[in-house]
Amino acid sequence: MMPAGHSAAPRSRSDDEAAPPWSSITGLVPTRTPLLDGDPAAADPVAAKREELRAYFHRTCEIDERLFDLIRNDTAYYVRHEPLRHPLIFYFAHPATFYVNKLFVGRWFPARVDPRMEAMMAVGVDEMSWDDLDSAHYDWPSVAAVRAYRREVRKRVDAFIRTMPLELPIRQDSAAWVILMGIEHERIHLETSSAIMRQMPLDDLRRESELSAGERELWRACTVTGPRPDNPWVDVAGGVVRLGKRDDDRTYGWDNEYGREEVRLAPFRAARQLVSNGEYLEFVEAGGYRDETLWTEEGRGWLGYTRAEHPRWWRRDGAGWRQRNLLDEIGLPLDWPVEVNCLEAQAWCAWKARETGLDVRLPTEAQWQSLRRGIDTDQPTWDRAPGNVNLEWFASGCPVTRFVQGDFCDVVGNVWQWTRTPIMPFKGFEVHPLYDDFSVPTFDGRHNLIKGGSWISTGNEALASARYAFRRHFYQHAGFRPVVDSSTDGADTEGSRLYETDALVTQYLEFHYGPEALGVPNFPRACAAEAIRHLPADRRRRALDIGCSVGRSTFELARWFETVEGVDFSARFIQSGVRLGQGGEVHYEVSTEGELTTKRGVSLERLGLSDVAGRVAFTQGDACNLKPIHTGYDLVLAGNLVDRLYDPSLFLDLITGRILPGGLFVVTTPWTWLEEYTPKDKWLGGRREHGEPLSGFEGLRRALDPAFELVHRTDIPFVIRETSRKHQHSIADVTVWRRRGSP
Ligand SMILES: [Fe+2]
Repeated sequence: MMPAGHSAAPRSRSDDEAAPPWSSITGLVPTRTPLLDGDPAAADPVAAKREELRAYFHRTCEIDERLFDLIRNDTAYYVRHEPLRHPLIFYFAHPATFYVNKLFVGRWFPARVDPRMEAMMAVGVDEMSWDDLDSAHYDWPSVAAVRAYRREVRKRVDAFIRTMPLELPIRQDSAAWVILMGIEHERIHLETSSAIMRQMPLDDLRRESELSAGERELWRACTVTGPRPDNPWVDVAGGVVRLGKRDDDRTYGWDNEYGREEVRLAPFRAARQLVSNGEYLEFVEAGGYRDETLWTEEGRGWLGYTRAEHPRWWRRDGAGWRQRNLLDEIGLPLDWPVEVNCLEAQAWCAWKARETGLDVRLPTEAQWQSLRRGIDTDQPTWDRAPGNVNLEWFASGCPVTRFVQGDFCDVVGNVWQWTRTPIMPFKGFEVHPLYDDFSVPTFDGRHNLIKGGSWISTGNEALASARYAFRRHFYQHAGFRPVVDSSTDGADTEGSRLYETDALVTQYLEFHYGPEALGVPNFPRACAAEAIRHLPADRRRRALDIGCSVGRSTFELARWFETVEGVDFSARFIQSGVRLGQGGEVHYEVSTEGELTTKRGVSLERLGLSDVAGRVAFTQGDACNLKPIHTGYDLVLAGNLVDRLYDPSLFLDLITGRILPGGLFVVTTPWTWLEEYTPKDKWLGGRREHGEPLSGFEGLRRALDPAFELVHRTDIPFVIRETSRKHQHSIADVTVWRRRGSP
């Protein structure tokens, strides 16, 4: 949906409209990721770091805005150019909302900037099954409104950086870490948004003649092309490769990058260059896209669905081919790297293996890392990038022979390189609490690592330790370098598995799906049954399970309701529900005694819930800032949620309007208030008020009284298992409230 009244006139910005260096285009590149420690030579290292962070923040916002400035028609912001992604209006706003969401949830910001914007634009880096990509559900704001919002966020974050507590080195729990998180997140989207823009009609983008001199310099594409180069195999010695970023590393990292792993590599051979368009063209002309035997099962599924016949950014032009870049289309540059998804790269390798009789495959993460050891610098210390990366050379690919790095070309830069390694955490992985949906949802065997960075990989993305992963059918500025390798290291993965290792998620899986303990009936099931008891049969259309966790009560409610939406703040929890709803199994281990464990497997079929899956949908969301689409319910169940919220009263206010008159609101809670979750001044009860004790129940009644009548109150016990002989036994206070007014 698009608001009316959008201007279609091209806009231009002058390069010197403001004084600070970050508003001048020439000050935007090259990027240098800030070091976490201070400069001992600085007179005041803390003040200097603060200024460095401020400048890095503004440069990041500015370069992202410069990318969006390339769009000449506001209407183009509302078209979904990539069917697996939101329209670009989302990605224009999303990085700004990210700063606010993280700073607010981390309690660094006292208030939101625009709750509606921050709910609508919160999630969407990857096409998770629970991402809501249905545009009908979004009443997108105007481009001008997003621009104004971005300005406001810049002002607030700038003020925050100027005054935030800052100690060096910056640690993961400090405010500056959240700022770096927001910045590096925006730089990821600089890359993903530019990939989407390569799918926009060229008419929607400004022509070169409409760009300022500074813009032309920033977005300058390579103009050199040549014939298909030979691509010889180069021997690589084996040995031990150490993976993982150290805790005391001097640069910012995402949670999945930390930890330690050692891999012993057998000798292998790797192609000197990335596979060029010319090399890939031979596969296309040999009928590679029509030969199913060359494709994995997943690849065949993708081919059948998309009917692809060639890489996405190629276009057939009579007898020849053309390639779409960011701002232009050129005759297919045969010596530039081909850009394909992982499935296409795998098919090419299978074809090459058949042609040559060699074990041609994609490299593993460790094999790429062993090539990377040939470059002894990294982005914070290099004078100029050794490859086409960091926007230091071109805003496009370039010949694969242009940047020689030791025995190879383009180990770093040009386009990303697919590996055959699905991303998994290193030993010692710990999720970052403020961004728990960054890595964990990708540990599913379906997301392969990409390495080396592209021409537009800036900031943290351009570091050797960067570890990004995408679904194998996804398009980025990515190609590949094949290896010849006959080892069987198990890094090839097809299909999907979900083996849950996250201790907290495991505990909830056991709570929701494990066997009953101490003779206490399954709690989510008992809560659903209690809720249903008070709701007439003609009021069972839509239910919301808010704080649904791993989803048992959502499925249980679906026994009676036409549709049930499960919403949880954490993607880590939701993915278990999603997997079960898709008919999959979830496996986990529970502690029995000491280091001993028991394995468990869950499926809806075993629970007798297979036929309800089609009525259930899971979404990520903040209970205190629910998206507007969550409304019109006959029942809302808030299971053990109100004492885990940052602002329970705000939630209660908000949820009232989402329940239909005559509908039910069911609250279960053991009233365990913890300042870790809820600041004390926000507790509904469990504290003294004017010297008198105030219970949680009294606080709840006071909050709900004007709009609800209390229908029923009861106790329901629950048990959380620690080992086979140790359990936490709690009693939930269960209250059933009916919304006043006639249905
Ligand atoms: Fe994002």
